[in-house]
Amino acid sequence: MVSHVLRAASLAAVLLMASPAKAQMIVGDAMPEPLAGAGDAMRGRAIIIDRQKGFCLLCHAAPLPDQRFMGNLAPNLAGAGARYTQAQLRLRIAMPSHLNPDTLMPSYFRTAGLYAVAMPYVGKPILDGQQIEDVVAFLMTLKEPAP
Ligand code: HEC
Repeated sequence: MVSHVLRAASLAAVLLMASPAKAQMIVGDAMPEPLAGAGDAMRGRAIIIDRQKGFCLLCHAAPLPDQRFMGNLAPNLAGAGARYTQAQLRLRIAMPSHLNPDTLMPSYFRTAGLYAVAMPYVGKPILDGQQIEDVVAFLMTLKEPAP
C-alpha cells in the first residue's frame, strides 16, 4: 500500500518534469531551449529600437549610434553578447523576474503573474518566441564593452 502511494508520487514527479511549459525551460540562470526557429539579428535590432514593441531603449543604452534618447536605468547593452551565452540572454529577456523578482525589466515572454499589463497584452506575451530569438541574436553580436 505504502509502496503504491510512493510509486504514484514519483510518477507524478516524472510527469511534471516532462510537461513542456515550465520544467524544461529554465536551467540554472539560463533557458537552453530556443523558443522558436533561429533568430535574425537584424529583426532583433528593429525590435530593440522600436519604442512601442521592445521599448528596451527606455531603460538601456546600446551601441546604436543612430539612436538618441537612450535610458540609463539599466546596464548598457554593449558587450552583452560577450558577458552572456545565448541561453542566459534568452532567460534575461523572456523572464528576468526569475532572476530578480523586483526587477524593473518586463518579463517579455511571461503572461501569468504580470500586473498593470496594458490591454493589448492581456493574456499574451509582450514578444513572441520568434521575436525573443531575434532579440537574442542581435544581443549576441554586441561583443564590445561600453567605452
Ligand atoms: C523598464 C526598464 C527596462 C526595459 C524596458 C528593459 N530592460 Fe533590460 N534590464 C533592466 C534592468 C533594471 C536590468 C538590470 C538587471 C535587473 O534589474 O534585473 C536589465 C537587464 C538586462 C540585461 C542583462 C544586462 C547585464 O549586463 O546584466 C539584458 C541583456 C537586457 N536587460 C536586455 C533588454 C532588452 C533586449 C530589452 C527589450 C526587449 C530590455 N532589456 C528592456 C531594465 C529594463
